[in-house]
Amino acid sequence: MNNFSQKIISWYEVSGRKNLPWQVEDPYKIWISEIMLQQTQVKTVMPYFENFTSKYPNIESLAKTSLDDVLSLWSGLGYYSRAKNIHKTAVILEKDFNCSLPDTLEDLMMLPGIGFSTAGAILSLGFKKPGVILDGNVKRVLLRMLGNKSPMNHYKTEKSLKEFAKILLPSAKHKQYSQGLMDLGATICRPKNPECKMCPIVACCSAKEKNIQNEIPVKLNKIEKKEKIIEWVLIKTKTKVLLKRNKESGIWQNLWLLPDKAFLPLKKITNLDPIEEDFPNFVHQLSHKKLLISLKIYTIKNKDRLPINRSLYNWVNISDSVNMGVPKPVREILNKI
Ligand code: ADE
Repeated sequence: MNNFSQKIISWYEVSGRKNLPWQVEDPYKIWISEIMLQQTQVKTVMPYFENFTSKYPNIESLAKTSLDDVLSLWSGLGYYSRAKNIHKTAVILEKDFNCSLPDTLEDLMMLPGIGFSTAGAILSLGFKKPGVILDGNVKRVLLRMLGNKSPMNHYKTEKSLKEFAKILLPSAKHKQYSQGLMDLGATICRPKNPECKMCPIVACCSAKEKNIQNEIPVKLNKIEKKEKIIEWVLIKTKTKVLLKRNKESGIWQNLWLLPDKAFLPLKKITNLDPIEEDFPNFVHQLSHKKLLISLKIYTIKNKDRLPINRSLYNWVNISDSVNMGVPKPVREILNKI
């Protein structure tokens, strides 16, 4: 085995993380955790992972459920295409793979939502086979080791890191190696002020040698996010609230939202009372957009006098709304009313 991977594995055995809830011998659970971890931090993922895998302990149970139920468990985690892909993949696995995950890079990468790095994680952590993980933590470790100041999020950098990471793979202990490399990035080779004194591979780190570890990784300037104004109305009775199914493609497709402000003036409603104290305006950041959200709240005495299109709108018990697929800003609003 090469010296680098040997050092990572020995470090992992002493200092790596061993109690993460997805550190189990079950490729299904590893797949779910890796999808959740794609854009979300470990501590946020933990309760979602526990909840999801206790409701759907295997591929069969997941394939049989509805997308709505999956979205409701995903509610608040963001990047909902991940939940849709998980559901699609479970259906494919039930139909074509006898309710199990395949154990080759090619087959894994054919499945919705599984790219090179997630496939590498499933292979190494789930099947103890060679597999490259290139999450943000691992990229930082490798770029610093190389003293490489190319922009981390540029496709050419990604391509060369992929090749480099393949060369470094060990001949055994694939699970310990992959987890160790991620853990090293998360706990020692941190984005700011890395703990180089504690690092098992400091001797082969170019960045440390040149004392440029805080200058790497370089990130391409992010494109300024577009702003989008959202004006919702919240119409409620004592116990119920009116929600709208989002049929538009793009963000939050198929999730439950509040009706748009434009929903109201078109209707002649006599018993609709605005609530004087409106909800303060707030901002919700997406990866590519900044949403500026305003909300007006109304109570209605007799909801049956409000004409609604039943294929889009639904009166929902406020207490039941916690079990529905709603995005984070709507969840925050519903929690506060
Ligand atoms: N990020 C991506 N995969 C991870 C894992 N298995 N453990 C911790 N962080 C991760």
